Amino acid sequence: MNNKIGVKILGTGSYVPEKVLTNFDLEKMVETSDEWITTRTGIRERRIISEGQTSSDLAYNASLKAIENAKISVNDIDLILVATVTPDMPLPATACFLQQKLQAFNSAAFDISAACTGFIYGVATAKAFIESGIYKTVLVVGVEALSRVTDWTDRNTCVLFGDGAGAMVFQASETDNDILSVYLGADGNHTALLDIPAGGTANPASHETVDKKMHAIKMAGKDVFKIAVTKMAESAEKAMKIAGKTDKDIELYIPHQANLRIIDAVAKKAGINKDKVYINVHKYGNMSAATTIVALDEARQEGRISKGGLVELVAFGGGLTWGGCILRIGL
Ligand code: UT7
Repeated sequence: MNNKIGVKILGTGSYVPEKVLTNFDLEKMVETSDEWITTRTGIRERRIISEGQTSSDLAYNASLKAIENAKISVNDIDLILVATVTPDMPLPATACFLQQKLQAFNSAAFDISAACTGFIYGVATAKAFIESGIYKTVLVVGVEALSRVTDWTDRNTCVLFGDGAGAMVFQASETDNDILSVYLGADGNHTALLDIPAGGTANPASHETVDKKMHAIKMAGKDVFKIAVTKMAESAEKAMKIAGKTDKDIELYIPHQANLRIIDAVAKKAGINKDKVYINVHKYGNMSAATTIVALDEARQEGRISKGGLVELVAFGGGLTWGGCILRIGL
């Protein structure tokens, strides 16, 4: 008999750089105020990578903690997935830099580019590889060093982002199935709403691209806001339906942490109990692919998730991409 392979979550970890940049610091850099940033976004401070540090360094620190929590050896890992839009370099994959730092040489390694939904795309990819029997133990990392691609003279964007990393270890299981559902979506009609225009084949790096700050994040905030609310609420509902669960089954909701107003609007639209929504956007700002997994790891460590509790992640980002998943956290 062919038993279906299940996926067990073995461990989580997270890491944020030490340097804190507050709204008051930003007041000295651009024409803004703590009051504007707090009321429009909920963000009070964010973490900034130090000089010489790279995304793979952040990923390494988060991964070490996840691997320790999972009680496995680095040699057990047979696939490393790194979700990021701020790789160490365009080539090679940040997953390869991470593999070298971890000395996890029994693994395949590649990156996933799905912006803020990257970690959920990573969960879906790990699930597919494990259930198909191709890999047994998968490390998924969401990491960003957005401060490196921020235009620090643009007040529309520079107050929003932060740096950090989170990691999760998944393993094939005959008895457990901790990924109850995944739902992914994308709409390439809106690529221009949120992008880093230069550095790829469309606009290779040149003096002009540098002068025009085309290597920094551009965002049409208002348009993104509206679609984010609709698509995150839809993702929450779809992931719930696929899992056959309702609001009362979910112990904690972890939405992408981009803006407190978006989180509130999503909760209202999707009929989510606000008391069950985890929030850390005030401490870290928008860390793109790292937000949901850093929040999940912190929630676990704060005792916000009971053993076997169900957590729903939902996210939305550049692409546009969106998605949701329901995970059982038995840690
Ligand atoms: O992670 C991927 C998804 N990303 C998101 O979900 C982000 C989505 N968007 C947002 O969170 C919000 O749209 C923002 C926080 C980016 C902006 O908030 P908003 O309420 O949409 O403000 P706005 O863009 O309409 O700007 C209102 C005003 C403008 O001034 P005028 O034109 O009305 O005179 C801006 O120039 O606020 C001004 N403004 C600022 N003022 C002080 C924009 N940024 C700032 C700032 N400080 N940092």
